[in-house]
Amino acid sequence: MTENTDSQLPVILIGAMTRDRVIGQDDHMPWDIPEEYQTFVDSIRGQTVIMGRKSYEIFGADLTSEHTVVISRSRPSLGVLVVSSIEAALEQARSYRKQIFIAGGAQIYRLGLPHADRMYLSEIKKEYDGDSYFPEFDLAEWEITREEDHSKFIYRQWRRKR
Ligand SMILES: NC(=O)c1ccc[n+]([C@@H]2O[C@H](COP(=O)([O-])OP(=O)(O)OC[C@H]3O[C@@H](n4cnc5c(N)ncnc54)[C@H](OP(=O)(O)O)[C@@H]3O)[C@@H](O)[C@H]2O)c1
Repeated sequence: MTENTDSQLPVILIGAMTRDRVIGQDDHMPWDIPEEYQTFVDSIRGQTVIMGRKSYEIFGADLTSEHTVVISRSRPSLGVLVVSSIEAALEQARSYRKQIFIAGGAQIYRLGLPHADRMYLSEIKKEYDGDSYFPEFDLAEWEITREEDHSKFIYRQWRRKR
């Protein structure tokens, strides 16, 4: 497991999921909760975002990040920096000296989880069908550092235990 020891540059997984870990259905998020989406937009503003190619095609236009790094094997030119592995994405992201957010989707959360120091995760209260899921993580390895109860979601920040 790669640990990020530079506390100035935490690697943060950010996203929203149901209690059943659903994050998407048919290449979109199955809910429309502007207050929740705003937490994403505000967190990444001026920072660095790493995304999978599919998620970039869905959310790229909304990104308020200063730097964006897309992971793809097959699409080198998307009008944004594209790299072919999570390791290359993190190396590039670290060079920008900003907080590093890994913003999905399912494939990229799975690749990013072992590298993550923190997670900013919203739990959507209503259940939805889905075809994309957030990876399971070991609760014993993580602690909640912040929790806010909103009407349609619970927002939590997690930190990996040292
Ligand atoms: N709820 C949330 O917070 C949230 C956030 C983000 C996304 N989503 C949802 O997640 C779903 C999309 O997730 P997804 O898993 O299908 O797609 P994704 O993770 O966004 O992107 C997958 C793409 O990443 C590239 N990739 C994956 N593994 C790679 C590797 N090892 N090396 C190099 N490139 C690699 C491939 O791109 P190429 O095919 O170009 O090679 C692959 O097609 C959508 O439903 C979206 O709405 C939800």
